[in-house]
Amino acid sequence: MGTIRVELKERSYDIHVDRGILKDVGRLVRDLGLKGRAAVITNPTVGGLYGGAVADSLASAGLSPFFITVPDGEEYKSIEEASKIYDALISERFERSSPIIALGGGVIGDMAGFVAATYLRGVPYIQVPTTLLSQVDSSVGGKTAVNHPKGKNLIGAFYQPRAVFIDPDVLKTLPEREVKAGLAEVVKYGVIWDPDFFYYLEENASKLIKPGPEIERAIEASCRIKAEVVGLDEKEEGLRSILNFGHTFGHAIEALAGYGAYRHGEAVAIGMCMAARLSGRLGLCRECGPRLEGLLKALGIPFSPPAMPPADFLEAMRLDKKVVGKRIRFVLAIELGKVVLQEVQEEDILGFLESYTRA
Ligand code: NAD
Ligand code: GLY
Repeated sequence: MGTIRVELKERSYDIHVDRGILKDVGRLVRDLGLKGRAAVITNPTVGGLYGGAVADSLASAGLSPFFITVPDGEEYKSIEEASKIYDALISERFERSSPIIALGGGVIGDMAGFVAATYLRGVPYIQVPTTLLSQVDSSVGGKTAVNHPKGKNLIGAFYQPRAVFIDPDVLKTLPEREVKAGLAEVVKYGVIWDPDFFYYLEENASKLIKPGPEIERAIEASCRIKAEVVGLDEKEEGLRSILNFGHTFGHAIEALAGYGAYRHGEAVAIGMCMAARLSGRLGLCRECGPRLEGLLKALGIPFSPPAMPPADFLEAMRLDKKVVGKRIRFVLAIELGKVVLQEVQEEDILGFLESYTRA
């Protein structure tokens, strides 16, 4: 399969997508010039399934792996758990020349990346994403973070990995609910960047849930789009915010429902439909909402928002990182494959929320 380059001013890196690449992780890490100890950060679920293969691969390439295992769940993506990881690294006398390997979904990837960014002012890290969502989104682009009780990802850093190794074979063990949550982010790329990719997803919707060439092609296409956007705007000074399509609503849903009630991708799916419908209401794109809902329906991804009072919804969105004064900045669709960043007055958002949550 393929290699996709993330071209940055400093520290460009490759995303390798290949079935069975897990068993080559050791050699590929060594080829990057990394040696010595390797701290594999994972959780019991993923560690139990794939930790052995990764450990064997690292050891046979001459590295000395040890594991740091974090409990499974979004609620553990916290500064307290990060602190326990620092404790483990310090007690292992982990040095700056040694790599951290993030083996897991977005929770592990974000937290391991945050630890890598901050331990000893930065150590190299490798992303080995094992959920569809992390393969198409969170492992690429260097956003690392932990959550704060007041909001998701409020504590974090931009810190790029040295490489990303994606093995589509690991999706065979991923529960269907998680596959669908990842597909929501895949769909996002079609809406924000590439209408042909959106049509491809429409045409192949029934084949994307199962492992196979369609999902592998979708992973590569998603990584290519994300690499291009991040290459143009690494630190989210403008363009990169289009990757947050659906996230302003989605983050509010996650926070209001309590972390863990919704999968991140599920909240994003609902949020994308809300953003597309808001785009229609503002006269930007009337086709986008129904078309997006049609694709999500074909993929079996729920997109109805939970019952939440509009005022609470608005309050939760005020905490989002995209708020400017009394206006909230949204990514809105102007046509399939094209979005804009637009500020919307709170009273207009409230009116939309009242009509949308009633409909
Ligand atoms: P997750 O990491 O919680 O993984 C979901 C579940 O799948 C977990 O129970 C995990 O143990 C299990 N799992 C992982 N791989 C498996 C496999 N191959 N087989 C069986 N089970 C497996 O959730 P996620 O959806 O991957 O990530 C969500 C997180 O990603 C959120 O915290 C979100 O904020 C973050 N995120 C970050 C970015 C970014 O740019 N950094 C982008 C999107 C999302
Ligand atoms: N997931 C949004 C970003 O990486 O910018």
